[in-house]
Amino acid sequence: MTGRPQSEGSRQRARTTATPRQVAFDVLRAVADDDAYANLLLPTRLRRARLSGADAAFATELTYGTLRRRGHYDAVIALAAGRSIDAIDPIALDVLRLGAHQLLGMSTPAHAAVGETVELTRRARAARTTGFVNAVLRTISRDDDATWTARLLDGVTDPDTRAGIAYAHPPWLVTALRSALAREGRASELEALLAADNAPPRVTLVALPGLSEPESLGDLTLYSPVGARSAAGDPAAHPAVATGAARVQDEGSQLAALALSRARPVVAGERWLDLCAGPGGKAALLAAEARAAGAVLTANEVVPARAELVRKALHAVDPAVEVRVGDGRAIGALEPGSYDRILLDAPCTGLGALRRRPEARWRKTAADVAPLAVLQGELLRSALAALRPGGVLAYVTCSPHPDETTAIVDALLTEHPADAAPLDARAVLAGVTRSPLDLGELAHGAAQLWPHRHGTDAMFIQLLTRR
Ligand SMILES: C[S@@+](CC[C@H](N)C(=O)[O-])C[C@H]1O[C@@H](n2cnc3c(N)ncnc32)[C@H](O)[C@@H]1O
Repeated sequence: MTGRPQSEGSRQRARTTATPRQVAFDVLRAVADDDAYANLLLPTRLRRARLSGADAAFATELTYGTLRRRGHYDAVIALAAGRSIDAIDPIALDVLRLGAHQLLGMSTPAHAAVGETVELTRRARAARTTGFVNAVLRTISRDDDATWTARLLDGVTDPDTRAGIAYAHPPWLVTALRSALAREGRASELEALLAADNAPPRVTLVALPGLSEPESLGDLTLYSPVGARSAAGDPAAHPAVATGAARVQDEGSQLAALALSRARPVVAGERWLDLCAGPGGKAALLAAEARAAGAVLTANEVVPARAELVRKALHAVDPAVEVRVGDGRAIGALEPGSYDRILLDAPCTGLGALRRRPEARWRKTAADVAPLAVLQGELLRSALAALRPGGVLAYVTCSPHPDETTAIVDALLTEHPADAAPLDARAVLAGVTRSPLDLGELAHGAAQLWPHRHGTDAMFIQLLTRR
């Protein structure tokens, strides 16, 4: 998924790239110009440039590391250049960010980090900025990251701003993450969480039940009973992944789907609904679970192109699963009391997956949360109406933000005290996982997974039933 279509400029750049630094630079420009998603674009660019091994690893670390710590490098660049970053040419600024990451975040020798990075300005037809870029990078290279960070922290007293500077997160996000941890009485884990957001995640695979076994995929995951750690290299090259018998899927996403399918024994003939299914990762696991137990899954998605991805994901598992295109907010009124189990994996800010979406923390703003919370509340009310009395509903987000998680559930339970009742997701997960999860105490038996504690995305899982 990329936002706007690529501009002619970035297509042109893509055709001519070759070295790791050029690939990283092209991805940064596409992120800035075209709202591209680096984790989707970089693999294509690496293949096109025929980079592999150490070169591909260098380009990947340069791209993701620069994007992840962009706000930090912008502050260093502004200090070193003696001007606001808004006053710097956007092409020169991306070159400076790449140089800053090599100098402060990687162990690249300074002469290569400066010389070969400055060279990018010439290729990008920004030669007029070469002298400026060269001078700023030389200034940055005179001190290490700890010294620059100490300079940025000088005189800053607000704790969330300080943590944001130290761990390259915007302050509003630090505040939201702190309050999410505080719900569990675990605010002291904030720095561990911020550090975990900055570490690349290990790739995990799901062995779809009935189609493959986790033992055949790699080392078993700690928690998910259907998960395995992918060996080094391209996970798509594994034969089970190539045939659709296994998929790349975060362990937290696996647990969210299993919390619904294994909440209680399945009665053959049960009707299941995945209300917001695109692109189909959890739907594939649910379809495998449903098929094994004799339940019937329907998948719904509002964006037609994403519904097509769901069809593709389900093809290897069960091509008979019905995939619909429709607004999930309408289903409660159209099909009241119809489903025994419903997954609402709600559209959200994705703030729980910052490890794998390097640019996301700088692209999202605090203002993104409120409109999503409105949509989440509407989808949850619709899902509750579509649930058969006594059925199970899983409300899941890939965000730990309190406004997208506990506040949405609180509002539903307050509005519908006679209809909705919480179920204990923590107790369900205790019966599902290979080893015990250290879960904090949250209201209504909700489970919150965390990158720093569990090595998963920060998935929120609330189970509900309809009285
Ligand atoms: C978090 S993603 C779901 C991820 C999916 N469960 C998976 O594991 O691959 C949320 C999805 O909800 C879809 N969506 C957004 N608004 C919707 C609506 N009103 N009705 C149905 N789907 C919606 C988005 O297009 C997106 O594909």
